Amino acid sequence: MSFTMIRVFCTLLLALELRGQSVTRHTNVKCEVLDKSFVEFPICNLKVLGRGIIAENVYIKILKLPVEKISVNFAVYKKLSGYHPFLFNVTVDLCHYMKHPNPMNIVHYIHIALKPFTNFNHSCPYNVSNNQHDIVVKDFVLTDQMFARIPLPIGNYMFSIKMATDDVWRARLNTYFDVNVDNKN
Ligand SMILES: *[C@@H]1O[C@H](CO)[C@@H](O)[C@H](O)[C@H]1NC(C)=O
Ligand SMILES: *[C@@H]1O[C@H](CO)[C@@H](O)[C@H](O)[C@H]1NC(C)=O
Ligand SMILES: *[C@@H]1O[C@H](CO)[C@@H](O)[C@H](O)[C@H]1NC(C)=O
Repeated sequence: MSFTMIRVFCTLLLALELRGQSVTRHTNVKCEVLDKSFVEFPICNLKVLGRGIIAENVYIKILKLPVEKISVNFAVYKKLSGYHPFLFNVTVDLCHYMKHPNPMNIVHYIHIALKPFTNFNHSCPYNVSNNQHDIVVKDFVLTDQMFARIPLPIGNYMFSIKMATDDVWRARLNTYFDVNVDNKN
C-alpha cells in the first residue's frame, strides 16, 4: 500500500515538474578514454546550478600534441527500450569545419549552441607551445530554444561524440539529455 502511495506521489511530482517551464536538460554525462596515451578527462560531470538548471562541465586534456587533424563522429540515440541510433550520424573533419564554418552542416548547430561555453574557438593545429590546447566546456546548460529548430521530438536522448586523430578513435563523450520541445508544427 505504501509502495503505491509513493508511486502516486512520484507521478504527481513528475507531472508538476513537466508542467514547469522547461525540462530540456542534461541527465548524465560519461567521458570514455579509448586511448590513455592521448587524452584525459580531469573533469566530466553535471552540476546543478539552480532548480532544474543542470550544467555540463568537461575538461579535455590532450596529451599528444600538436594535433593537426581531428575527425569527430556525432551520433544521436533515442531511448526506447535501450538507446537506438536516431536521426543523424555524421563524421566531420573538425579542423576543416573550424576553418570554413558552414551553416548547412548539422555540426553548425552544435557549434553555435556550445560556443558561449567553450574555449574551442580556433582551427588546427593545437600546439604544445601555447597553453590553450586543453579543451574546456564550462557550465553548458541546454535550453528549449536550442532544440526549437532541430527535429528531435520529446524524449530521452544520448548524444555521442567520438574523436579520432590519425584515424584512431581516442575518446568518446556521451551526453544524456531530455528534450521537451514539441516542434511538430
Ligand atoms: C555511424 O556510421 C558509421 C559508418 O559511417 C558506422 O560505422 C557506425 O556504426 C554508425 N553509428 C551509428 C550509431 O549508427
Ligand atoms: C580564443 O579564445 C581565447 C580565450 O579563451 C582568446 O585568447 C583567443 O584570442 C580566441 N581566438 C580566436 C581565434 O577567437
Ligand atoms: C603551431 O605550430 C605550427 C608549426 O609547428 C605553427 O606553424 C603554427 O603557427 C602554430 N600555431 C599556434 C596557434 O601556435
